Amino acid sequence: MYTFNQEDFTKTATEALLFGVYTEEDRPFQTLDEAFSGELQELVEAGDLPLGSGQVTKLHTFGKVVPKRIYFVGLGKQEEVTKDSLRKAFGNVFKQLSKDKVEKAALALESLAGLPVSNALVFEAIGEAQALAPFVLNTYHTDKPKNSVELAELTIIGENQDVKEDIVQALHIGFALGEGANVARRLVNTPGNIMTATALASFAQGIAEKHSFDIEILEKEEMEALGMGALLAVNRGSVEPPRLIVMRYQGKETWENPVALVGKGITFDTGGYSLKGKDGIVGMKMDMGGAASTIGAMDAIGTIKPKANVMAVIPATDNMISGNAFKPDDVITSMSGKTIEIRNTDAEGRLVLADAITYAKRKGAAKIIDIATLTGGVIVALGNEVTGVMTNNDEWFSSVQEAADDTGELIWQLPYFEHYQKQVRTSHIADLNNSPGRAGHAIMAGAFVGAFAEDTPWVHLDIAGTAMASADHDLGPKGPTGVMARTLTKVVMNQAE
Ligand code: BES
Ligand code: MN
Ligand code: ZN
Repeated sequence: MYTFNQEDFTKTATEALLFGVYTEEDRPFQTLDEAFSGELQELVEAGDLPLGSGQVTKLHTFGKVVPKRIYFVGLGKQEEVTKDSLRKAFGNVFKQLSKDKVEKAALALESLAGLPVSNALVFEAIGEAQALAPFVLNTYHTDKPKNSVELAELTIIGENQDVKEDIVQALHIGFALGEGANVARRLVNTPGNIMTATALASFAQGIAEKHSFDIEILEKEEMEALGMGALLAVNRGSVEPPRLIVMRYQGKETWENPVALVGKGITFDTGGYSLKGKDGIVGMKMDMGGAASTIGAMDAIGTIKPKANVMAVIPATDNMISGNAFKPDDVITSMSGKTIEIRNTDAEGRLVLADAITYAKRKGAAKIIDIATLTGGVIVALGNEVTGVMTNNDEWFSSVQEAADDTGELIWQLPYFEHYQKQVRTSHIADLNNSPGRAGHAIMAGAFVGAFAEDTPWVHLDIAGTAMASADHDLGPKGPTGVMARTLTKVVMNQAE
């Protein structure tokens, strides 16, 4: 679907020619302007061709050049262009193409000349934007099925054939990254009655088959045999059986130093006996957002095939109420052997993560990233655009920061001071306590999870605020964002170097 044509862009037969323009160019798009006998320049001067970063202007060419329409993509000031600003600017043009039901488009390479960003990054950003921005969520309407039109073909028009391979490869990588996030978005959007732990496991099975990954799906009896008392406690109130999904991607010759991605897969969080209120409970189908981003990342990894080893571990269950459910004051024993006093059944995410992390460690995880819609506290602390991070290892954290800088997904570190680590270990009756109170509770949750990572390099991502967007944005619709699927994939790709 990506091709490269050595051709003069004014002679390209296409419905839609994409053309980047900088804000402060003297004579923007000279070749084009000549074809229009200087009229484009007049439009710019009259303010009718806005060229600010992210602005898209569509122009009919009236046969003055061969392309039927030109979509000008405002790139902002040339020296200020970043991978992030490109991704957003192209996001807008891909949305417009989708609205206009354009199936084939071309891009004038010359119009992107002189960028302070390498071709590899530019075209990765464009591929990401193409997958992410026009994405439409699955719905269950019976009367109005959504026929979203996807761009089937993008042709790069350029003079220099030498860059062709790099460009096409970067586009493919970018698109795979974006598709990984889209996989996560669809999973999160699927309601809890449909996206049960069993359904999540079969979906993962499908991804594994698509890429020939090794996959193991542990059922309740196996969890019992392994002593996964924390995961099983959360599942006890449910009629839906739990699953532990374990996928392996081996990109190196030998299975050495695998990175473990551990994603919280609570398919619906009622809070359990520490029941959520009637407002707080709505939307809790999204509580498997960490699992979704992990599965999305595995899909992208399967497509991109980096030379790295990864294991995904996903504890999946809902958190329900029944005569069987776990309760405050219960004491449970986790797979690690550590005992836990339950103070709040709504602090369930850290419990399922605890056993999943122990499992990953026993299976030889060299480094761990856990990802979870873990706390309302992280929303209070950082809002809805920034993912909260904690770590026990600065070097491992900087790999994640580097990947996040690359994908434009914002993260910010919360402290992991020793007194926090002590607080989660304060209980009159057990080794740990699952909810020491409201103060700093995003950090308490992370510190609890960290107690199970022990000395293994660990990064914790709390995506409770970032997993859902409250409005349409440059790179997608209101609703599930698939946040961190791209960053996780990048972390793994960077392990290959
Ligand atoms: N799944 C929730 C966290 C959450 C809240 C995600 C809002 C998305 C939006 C988590 O299981 C939870 O209930 N956390 C509690 C912890 C508390 C009981 C210590 C919270 O943050 O209120
Ligand atoms: Mn909860
Ligand atoms: Zn939860």
